[in-house]
Parts: sequence; structure tokens; C-alpha cells
Amino acid sequence: MRTRYSLFYNSSSVTQSSQETATLTFGDKALDLPVVTGSEQEKGIDIARLRSATGAITLDPGFGSSGSCTSAITFLDGEQGVLRYRGIPIEELAESASYLETAYLLIYGNLPNTHQLDRFKAEWAARVALPPGMEKFFDSYPKTAHPMAILSAAVQMLSAYHPELTNANPTPAQMEAAIFTLLGALPTLAATGYRKSKGEKPLAPRKDLSYTPNFLYMMFGPPAGKTEPDEVCVRAMRQMFILHADHEQNCSTSTVRIVGSSRASAFTSISAGIGALWGPLHGGANQAVIEMLEEIHKSGASFDTILAKAKDKNSGFRLMGFGHRVYKNFDPRSRIIKKACDQVLNRLGIHDPLLDLAKKLEEAALKDDYFVSRKLYPNVDFYSGIILRALGIPTEQFTVIFALGRISGWLAHWKEMLESPDFRIVRPRQIYTGSTKRPYRPLSERQ
Ligand code: MLT
Repeated sequence: MRTRYSLFYNSSSVTQSSQETATLTFGDKALDLPVVTGSEQEKGIDIARLRSATGAITLDPGFGSSGSCTSAITFLDGEQGVLRYRGIPIEELAESASYLETAYLLIYGNLPNTHQLDRFKAEWAARVALPPGMEKFFDSYPKTAHPMAILSAAVQMLSAYHPELTNANPTPAQMEAAIFTLLGALPTLAATGYRKSKGEKPLAPRKDLSYTPNFLYMMFGPPAGKTEPDEVCVRAMRQMFILHADHEQNCSTSTVRIVGSSRASAFTSISAGIGALWGPLHGGANQAVIEMLEEIHKSGASFDTILAKAKDKNSGFRLMGFGHRVYKNFDPRSRIIKKACDQVLNRLGIHDPLLDLAKKLEEAALKDDYFVSRKLYPNVDFYSGIILRALGIPTEQFTVIFALGRISGWLAHWKEMLESPDFRIVRPRQIYTGSTKRPYRPLSERQ
């Protein structure tokens, strides 16, 4: 495509492009398509007119080269290993921010001042308790139910207690109330489901504790002789929540946007996002990594054997936690989590052989040209399971932890989508490859 210049603008979230277009030559047509230039100089070719002008559509299964929206929430550069929430590097937030500060940043666009943070915390704290009577919902689940199945359903059940927050055109106040209700309730739903699955009485949330310590308290109660969770554990879990808070148009966030675009409620959209996150190719990968490391540890197989199996497409074995659809250098989150692993295990006096195994496996893989040439580096899931094990989180709860981080990103994208001047229902097209027209034949003729 030759580049020529024509004026393009569509919404405030993109910079005014310098009259740039891309020309598509298709058959006897030459179509000038506007070029969108993002604030980090990313380029997008706006093809909204393509079908009406040419009759053709683009085809991009998995949408690896297609943008679904413009967004001002998260920027990531897969080649440089850059991840920023509203422009602030993830490394600085993980080091210094609280989770609720980070949630405020994602949802409202800037870090809060003291007054704004105090109000945000108060609105959140006012909604951490479950509605009266909702706890019995958890008794209807078999003890073997997966926590993500329960969490997704519990969010929908929560909406039944808030009919005033499920209307199709929520006012700003209703949107904010839905955001606080979900941000407040999700950790309580998760901890209640966990304790119920163990036959233990749920612990009521404590309004004197913030997001992360309150969650750990509701899960495990205070450590012996203490009234609050251990600060090192809180810091590690807080970093996990912050590092998982958002990641632009990943599968589950795109799901939240697609479901929300039908003007289904925030509860329905988040419940759908939880379902998408459960998949082992997405949020379920952290559970799959630990199960893989446990299997390798038990087998005693050599790294050469493991890496050979990972390279053999017929082996049915995949090195979980390596590679990423976007990061082609390294996942900046995995570096932070790897460092936190050592801190948490040292502080708790835990020696986890899986951490040693993970580090040696990473070292072996990063010396192997098969992985290096394919840019298969550890992603956020590779080390996160090690920390969660150290914090006493059962493996089947790992993806729930991911959801408790991602909830603020999902809500930020839900809000941004509803407020966008480009808002419309998401309804992609397709290229049909099935049978051409043919007649119905009665059963007697189909023997
Ligand atoms: C995420 O954080 O959602 C995962 O890295 C997956 C992704 O971004 O595609």
C-alpha cells in the first residue's frame, strides 16, 4: 500500500493524524483508507468503509493484525517488553502502588490524590460484604466444582441482588455503583467459595483492611498470634494483583467488551470475562504451568528430554508458561514475579523444588535456539504459580487470583467502551465456506 495523506480523525483517544491514508488497490478500485496514529505512534488502517466500497472484508482469525478499538488504558510493546497502565510503567506501580490506587488509575485515567483515594476506598469498602442470603448460593455447588465455574456464576447471581445496576443504559452513577459493587464483592465471592469448598465457615470481610490484606484474611484468617496477614505475603499478592490488572485487548478483556457491547450489564460482561480467563490458553495457564512443573519434577526427566519433547509437535507436550501472542522479547511481568518468588520463599523459609526447576528450565530453554529463534520466553504465568503456592493458594485457585487482579482492567475497559463515541455492538463478519445452495431431501431419500 502506497502512503498518501488525507485528513483523518474519529475520537479523542487518538492523535489527529497528519492527513495520512493507506491506498488499497483491489480489482479496478483504489481505495484511500484513513490511518489512525496512536499516542505511541502505532498505526492502524481504518477499514470501516472497506466492505461498502469494495464488497470485500478482511480476514484475520484470532485478530492478530486487527484492532477492535482505540483505548487509552494500557499500552504494551511486545517487541520492547514494555507495559504501562495509563502511561505509568508496570515496574513502578508494582514497586510502589496499592492495588486500589492502580484500579483507580485504570478506571479513571490518573492516580488519585488523597481525597480521591479515600473516597474510592470508602465506596469499595462499603461493598465488600455479600448481600444477606447470598452465602447459601455456594452450598448448592458440589465440593468438586472448579472455583472459576463458581466465581463466574456467583457474579451473575450477585446481579440478582442489584437489579438497579443491570439496566441497558446505566447513568454515570449507576456505572460507578456497578464498578464498586464488582470490585468490592469479587474477593469476597472468591474467598467464600474457597472456604465453603473446604467445609470451613467463611470469614466476613474487614473494612479496616485494604483490597489485598482483606482478601488474604478472608481466605486464611490471620497468621497465628497476629491480627492481620503477613506484610511480605501481602506485598507479593499485591504485586500479583497489580501485574495482572490489565493487558489491553487480551481474550478475556475482549470478551468483556464484546458482551458489554450488547448492552448486557457489567455483571454479565464480567461473568463472561471470567469464563474466557478460565481457559488454559489464557488465565488457566498459571495452573497448567504448576501442573507441568510437578509432572516434570515427579518424572525426574532431564532438561534435554523435556526440551526435546517440547519441540516435538507429536509429543503432545507443550512448555506451558513460555511464549506470548504479543511479547516477542520478554514479558516484563515475569521478571518482577521471578524476583518476588525469591523474596517470598526466603521470607517464609520455604524451599520449593519447583522454583529451582523453573529457573533451570528457563536457563536451558533460553540457551536453546529453538526457543530463542521463536522468541519463546517465560511469560507472566511461568513463575506466578510458584508465588501462589508459597502463599498457600491451592493450584485450582490460581486463575481466580488472576481474575482478582484483572477485575479492575475489565471494569476500566467496560466503562471506556460504554463512554466511547465509537460505541456500537460488536458483530464481526465472516467468509462462508460451506455448501452452496442445495434442496431439502426427505429422509426416505437420505438412506
Ligand atoms: C494477559 O495478561 O491477559 C495475558 O498475558 C494474555 C494476553 O495478553 O493475551
